[in-house]
This record gives sequence, structure tokens and C-alpha cells, in this order.
Amino acid sequence: MSGVALESPVDPADYPLPPTLGIHRLPTVMSGMRRNIVPVLHEQFQRFGPTVRVYAPGIAEFVFVSRAADAERVFISRQDIYSKGEEYDIPALGLRTGLVTSRGARWQRDRKMINPMFAKRRLDPLAENMTRRIVAMTERWNRIRDGETIDIAKEMMRVTLEIAAETLFGTDLSEAEIAETGAAITEVLEDMLLIGASPAVWVSAALPRMRLDSAAHGHWRYRRIARRLRQLDALVQRRIDDRRDAGVSRNDFLAMLLEAEDHKSDRLTHREVMAQAVTFLGAGHETSASGLSWFWHLLAENPAARRRLLDEVDEVLQGRLPTAADIDRLPWTKACFSEALRIHPPVYLAMRTAHQDDVLGGYRVRAGSTVIVLTHEIHRDPDIWPDPTSFDPSRFLPGAGKDRPRGAYVPFGGGRRICIGSQFALMEGVLIAAATSQRYLLDSAPGWAVLEEGATTLRPRGGLPMVVRRRGSGTHTASA
Ligand code: HEM
Repeated sequence: MSGVALESPVDPADYPLPPTLGIHRLPTVMSGMRRNIVPVLHEQFQRFGPTVRVYAPGIAEFVFVSRAADAERVFISRQDIYSKGEEYDIPALGLRTGLVTSRGARWQRDRKMINPMFAKRRLDPLAENMTRRIVAMTERWNRIRDGETIDIAKEMMRVTLEIAAETLFGTDLSEAEIAETGAAITEVLEDMLLIGASPAVWVSAALPRMRLDSAAHGHWRYRRIARRLRQLDALVQRRIDDRRDAGVSRNDFLAMLLEAEDHKSDRLTHREVMAQAVTFLGAGHETSASGLSWFWHLLAENPAARRRLLDEVDEVLQGRLPTAADIDRLPWTKACFSEALRIHPPVYLAMRTAHQDDVLGGYRVRAGSTVIVLTHEIHRDPDIWPDPTSFDPSRFLPGAGKDRPRGAYVPFGGGRRICIGSQFALMEGVLIAAATSQRYLLDSAPGWAVLEEGATTLRPRGGLPMVVRRRGSGTHTASA
């Protein structure tokens, strides 16, 4: 022995179970899931402390955690025992078995195959496509009256969908097809959420010979999801057929997925290509759009931060369009976006199944429980983030936050299953922020209360009306 004392292994049996909400609270939690689970859980954390369990014997055992150390343990240091489990049968209703929902060896193979598509050398050239779409958006705005109020949440949904669709399919999609795709994806994700929040589904999943996926397939909304997915499949298939007929080689994500399909030793089946394409649209569009909506709202509410952003954008870009190389030259702009993702994380929770008994936050977590990491709560922990609801982008300037614990900032999750699109999303966010701010100022609409809605992503409830004003030739006005 070296003489170094070994840390005694933790025996979960020595720890108490977390404060538990009985089965009678399940309807409150479930109905919160349909509308906005965030304040419902916040209230429970205030009453019972940072770890709360909801237990319905034979039906479900959820453990909600809200501390950075829990996120670190679940996502990173004990990720071997916390993996995606049956709870992902619900997202799989809409996203099928693509990268978000797959597990085990299948996920490992797919992640390895898809990782190169998100490498920097592949992403950088996408900046040009992104700015083209952003300019098209500002040109649409040129046609409205200066000072008009428009729904910025809708605009962000549109531009991020256009970017995602173009990244996946190249420039093949018509405006009508893009709109049809957006409507289908939105409906699929919403139906998926409502099925997951249905107590009837969880209760019937607990019946003999039933599983969560078979119970969910019995829900009427699943028929609508299936119809919408068939519509999306047909669209993807048309694109595949077109390019096979034309024999043209492309450089978009669909071409890369098809290459992986043709690869002899380790191929994606046709069905898998479809699942990855739908996953890409589903995971990569509303998330970014919600993050950007919050960004614009927070920027409008914080004039000093906005002035600094405008100064940075004007000085660095000197009126030209931003490129991938500019991302690191715009640290304040990037910090503003990162800070928006902290205060209002679009993916406000993450779920894992505990495969062994463990200890989280001083409480025993039993094998088989579904652990739900509340990113929203972690991002507002006052012990880590002083004055947590104030917008302070300097928290994310280069060199800041070195002492912050791992797990304190997890808008993209962490560990092996960290968001594959995080660099894509950051580049897109900075480009949209910069190229739009060069041309327009967005101010809060008077009298409109901006509230959070925890739907498929955390978005502004009822949209985000903002007043849109053109900026003078490259320099911002005194009122900016
Ligand atoms: C601001 C925008 C985004 C946010 C906040 C976000 C957030 C997240 C989070 C939190 C996870 C992990 C979920 C978990 O551990 O349970 C995740 C996974 C994932 N995201 Fe994102 N995401 C964003 C943008 C994107 C984009 C643009 C794409 C695609 C282009 C994308 C594709 C994916 C995929 C495929 C996964 C699953 C990765 C895996 O399990 O291997 N995301 N995202």
C-alpha cells in the first residue's frame, strides 16, 4: 500500500431517500409538464430542498435534482450508471431512433459516424449559408414600416429552420416545403410532449406486458405524429431520389448521411438515415430559435450590454458581413448569447435512468429511478451565480468563471451525450446576433409581459413581439 488513505466507497443504503411527493402530487407535476414544469418544481425545491422525489409505486419514480454537483455526477463522473433509458421512448415517438434517443451500441456507432459532420472544418463553410439566410430575413424586414412591431420568436423560428433545412438538404427546398417542414416538426414535438405528460400513458405502461412505448403508441396524438412523420419522410425521400437521378455529388448533411449509408462495413440503413434527418431538424431548430428569442429580449432590456455589443460588432466588422473567423473576434456578442442560454436554457431539463443505486445531493437514488436534472434551476443557483437573474455577459468573457464548478453551466448537457450541435448553435447564434444588429435594433414592445413557457423548449409564452427599427448606415443611434 502507498499509505494514501482510500476514499471509503459510498453505500447508498446509508443515505435517506429524498423528500418525497406522494402519488396524489403526480397530477400536479404532470399538468405542470403540459404547461410549465419549471415553476412547479421551483416551488417544490423551495419547500423541500434541492432534491425531490415523486413516487407512484409500480408506475414511476422520478428524482428531480437541482445542483451543479448533481449535474456533474449524472452527466460526467458517473455517466456509466446514468444513461438514457425508457423515458426516451417518448422523444423517440417524434425523433425516432436517431442520435438524441438511441442508446448503447447503436448510439455509439451513430455518434462516431456523425461526429465528423460537426467538425470545425465542416462547420466553418456553413457560416456563409447562415449569413445568406440572415440577410434574407433583414431584407424581409426592410419591407415593413420602420418601428413596426413583429413577432421575433416567429422570425427566429423561421431563420433557424431555413438554416437547418439548408444545412441538411442544400438549397433544394422551396419556401413552401420549408414552411411545411416547420409546421410538421413543431406539431410532432408538441404532440410528443403532451403524450409524455399524460398520466394515462404512464399508468397503462405499468400494466402487465405493457411498456412505455406501446402505451404511448395507443394515444390518439400518436396517430397524428405518425401522419406528420410520413409527410416528412416523403419530403426527405424526394430529395434523395432527386439527387440519385441527377447523379450530382453534394456537400450537405444529407449527402454525408447517405455516404454513411453506402459505407459497406458499418452502414446506416435507409430508415436510419430518415431518423437522423428528422432528429437533426427536430433537435437543431427550435432550441436555437428559443435561445435567440431570449437573447433579443435580454439585450433590449439591458441597454448598456447592447451598446457594448453594437460597438463591438461595428468595430470588428466595419460594415462587412460576419464570417466563421469572426466568432472569436466578437467575445462580447458570444458572451451575451451564452448568458441568455444560462438565464433561459432552451433545454431546461435532461433525463437519465439510474442503473445502480447511487447518492445524489446526500440522498439515496434507487436503481431504476428516472433522474431529472433541472438545468434551469442549476443556472440560477445564487451560490454559483451572484444575482442570478441579472443579465451579466461578463460572466462568459474569456478567462471568466475559472472557479465555477463543472456542472454549473450545462445548456448543452455534458459527458458523452453532450449536444453534438453546440458549436453549430454558437456559431449560428453569434452570426444572427451580429449580422442582424448591424442592420436593426430590436426593442421590447410596450405593455407586453414576457413570460417563460416550458414546452418542448423554454420559449417566450405567446411569442415575442418587438419593435424593429433600422439602424443608420453602420453606426448606431443615440437611443440605441
Ligand atoms: C442553442 C441551441 C441548442 C441547445 C440549447 C441544445 C441543447 C442540447 C442538450 C441539452 C442536449 C443533451 C440532452 C441530454 O443530455 O439529455 C442536446 C443533445 C443533442 N443536440 Fe442539441 N442543442 C442545441 C442545438 C442543436 C443543434 C443546432 C443541433 C443540430 C444541428 C443539435 C443536435 C443535438 C443532437 C443530435 C443531440 C443528441 C446528442 C447525443 O445524444 O449524442 N442541437 N442538445
